[in-house]
Amino acid sequence: MNILLLGSGGRESAFAWKMSQSEQCSKLFIAPGNGGTGAYGTNININPNDFEAVKTLVLAENINLVVVGPEEPLVNGIHDFFLADAQLAAIPVIGPKKEGAILEGSKDFSKEFMARHDIPTPASQSFTNETLAQGLTYLKHHSLPVVLKADGLAAGKGVVICETTADAQEELQLMLGGKFGNAGSIVVIEEFLTGIELSVFVLTDGDNYVILPEAKDYKKIGQADTGLNTGGMGSVSPVPFADEKFLKDVEESIIIPTINGLKKDNIDYTGFIFFGLFKVGDKPMIIEYNCRMGDPETESVLPRIENDLIELFMATAQKRLNEVTLKISPKNAATVMIVAGGYPGDYEKGKAIAGIDNIRKSIAFHAGTSLENGVVKSNGGRVLAVTSLQDTQFEALQSATADAARIYFDGKYFREDIGFDLM
Ligand code: AMP
Ligand code: GLY
Repeated sequence: MNILLLGSGGRESAFAWKMSQSEQCSKLFIAPGNGGTGAYGTNININPNDFEAVKTLVLAENINLVVVGPEEPLVNGIHDFFLADAQLAAIPVIGPKKEGAILEGSKDFSKEFMARHDIPTPASQSFTNETLAQGLTYLKHHSLPVVLKADGLAAGKGVVICETTADAQEELQLMLGGKFGNAGSIVVIEEFLTGIELSVFVLTDGDNYVILPEAKDYKKIGQADTGLNTGGMGSVSPVPFADEKFLKDVEESIIIPTINGLKKDNIDYTGFIFFGLFKVGDKPMIIEYNCRMGDPETESVLPRIENDLIELFMATAQKRLNEVTLKISPKNAATVMIVAGGYPGDYEKGKAIAGIDNIRKSIAFHAGTSLENGVVKSNGGRVLAVTSLQDTQFEALQSATADAARIYFDGKYFREDIGFDLM
């Protein structure tokens, strides 16, 4: 089979790595890919949001399967674009149509979906410019801290946690005033949860689902979870505090009601659902859905899946995921993200990277890199995801951290404490 993978980050490197191991993979194209994905297939420099360019590529290369990594093309309707085109309609796309991607594309929609289907989530209310006065009054009586969320996609920056009523009122006005552009034309005001976060993923064909290994993502830039939020500085899988009983509870109170809710709402969903969860006491609550896999969670999750990923995708496309049994490695995965100095603020690109071949017990999944005349250079904030799969969590953490130290570029930074809080 010829496969097209859309995206360019560490998540896509992990997908490409895993799919290229399949006997069913004849040719793999990655668009646009990065400085490392060329090791698994052919990079094609097109923008995944340029659907006409994607179509031209799909027809020219006789693509039989399209896998969409990031959320934006899904929220923009790439799956619908395929279905509406006679030449593309029969080609399976892994990733939901617009009607399903809205679970991530609109926080207001997803909160209403959770409420409608009795899925445990913190209390919330949405406001717009028309209801700003009510919003300000609502905040006056709200407990603190309070969470404000821009409704639409805001490149991971649309959530603001406010410690005082005055800050929250100012933030509400800024968001509704266009701080995040159109994404903030609706603002969800949500109760603040105290607990510990984790991510759970399913792959669903709309009727059946398989639960993938859970993961924990480390969002803050600084050691010991301090400083600014990032796209993710590392991840581990499995998550020790997510024991069998807790995961059963997640399935019963969150996953099954979500799959059934999609069916009740006539949303035919094909692809990944990412459940952003909090463990509050013993109980799971959901704070968000994403319509794709997480990054850097994917880099820790995929190495633990022993199935052929292309077979899993074809079973998804053909609505026969019920025939599939997931084989999960009992080993532990840890991912340490190496980032550019200054990230998540301003940072420089184009730094030559040395030492990738020196790593001993890990895989270096390229994230923000480019390949220029044979030299790998940094090309983004999150540069490389170093993943190690070992018998114990300690070994995995230690190997990934030690290998991250073996790679060098000017200004490089990584957290040395990823996962050690769970020991
Ligand atoms: P998101 O962009 O939705 O992933 O949110 C970013 C981060 O904000 C999450 O990873 C949480 O750490 C935090 N967050 C979001 N919602 C809540 C909440 N209701 N209570 C506490 N923290 C939250
Ligand atoms: N690591 C969080 C995300 O992918 O949204």
